[in-house]
Amino acid sequence: MRRSLVVGNWKMNGTRASSESLAKGIVAGLVSDHADIAVCAPYVYLPYIAEVVKGTELALGSQNVADQASGAYTGEISATMLKEIGVTYALVGHSERRSYYGDTDASVAARFKQAQEQGIIPILCVGETLEEREQDKTFSVINKQLDAVIDLVGIASFDAAVIAYEPVWAIGTGKTATDEQAQEVHYYIRQYIAAKDQVIADKIQILYGGSAKPDNAKGLFAMPDIDGGLIGGASLDAESFLKIFNSI
Ligand code: 13P
Repeated sequence: MRRSLVVGNWKMNGTRASSESLAKGIVAGLVSDHADIAVCAPYVYLPYIAEVVKGTELALGSQNVADQASGAYTGEISATMLKEIGVTYALVGHSERRSYYGDTDASVAARFKQAQEQGIIPILCVGETLEEREQDKTFSVINKQLDAVIDLVGIASFDAAVIAYEPVWAIGTGKTATDEQAQEVHYYIRQYIAAKDQVIADKIQILYGGSAKPDNAKGLFAMPDIDGGLIGGASLDAESFLKIFNSI
């Protein structure tokens, strides 16, 4: 039986004080370890949040990681730097990175590789836009996003990775995928991996993201191939994030 995982993606929100207080609120409300839980804080707050979560069940994640190991890459943050702070997870390929900042399938694959080389678990985000869904391209888009990583690092690397399915049309829009719509894609992803490695497919956590809230999380998490969530807006409030975590 796969263990579930709920990850908060705080995106570019908060202050040092509000972020510390949010992390403290989550830690204080964690009464059970029925699933894994993490928060992806803005880079500059990671050292402060690391202090708050030290020795607790709440793990720390970053929202991206550089596609290079070190060197003249102004403005980038390497996997080595993140590891030093105590980061466990790194999002790679979030749709906001892909659409606003030009992260390509190739650079996402390189970020995935960099994270793993430092023992950080990459959370590979995949998902289609509304236009792609309407043109029946959902599965081909996801194939392409997965293949870029598989081609670079090999399927065996997914043994220490997480996949997040985030339909772009559901992110921050209040339009959640229905339980069945999400399950259909999660099942597809698992089968796609299974065709290459059944053991990894059975083991890998596939999270759903996109307007997941306390009132719709239970239905989503009850689906057989949905192993938790990647939560944006609703993770900015400790109570609602914990409600989502507790609906596993
Ligand atoms: P929302 O939960 O705000 O829709 O964001 C989802 C997301 O992008 C998480 O990475």
